[in-house]
Amino acid sequence: MIAIGCDHGGLELKNQLIAHLEKRGIECKDTGCYTSDSCDYPVYAHKVTDLIKSNECELGILICGTGIGMSMAANKVHGIRAALCSDCFSAEMTRVHNNANVLCLGARVIGPELAFRIADTFLDASFSNEERHNRRIQMLEEN
Ligand code: RB5
Repeated sequence: MIAIGCDHGGLELKNQLIAHLEKRGIECKDTGCYTSDSCDYPVYAHKVTDLIKSNECELGILICGTGIGMSMAANKVHGIRAALCSDCFSAEMTRVHNNANVLCLGARVIGPELAFRIADTFLDASFSNEERHNRRIQMLEEN
């Protein structure tokens, strides 16, 4: 089960991405928003990070207009490693090297087909668990 949330800027892409992921058999916990009314992205970032912190979901996806606000909000939460990706290489590497647990997407930056590929790449990749990467991730938590 993955957690997926958005603000009004990411609503359409979130709905399209959920349909895509469910076709692949990936269950999604949709934390909103659910309408195109203007709303505050930190609220929805925190709904997803709460599910990860409580171990209800291992991974999350956050979508806003640029993906930037969502990534800023998510990365303030201890234990969350959010990666804003607009390409598949970064989406793979951020799982393998950074053990990212949240993927952020900018719905006004990339189109839905690229977003689907980026999300598939992120979800299909896994952490290398190599000592040097574990050490660096540990260092992220120290400040
Ligand atoms: C909303 O207009 C927009 O600011 C938001 O979706 C996001 O891009 C913020 O980073």
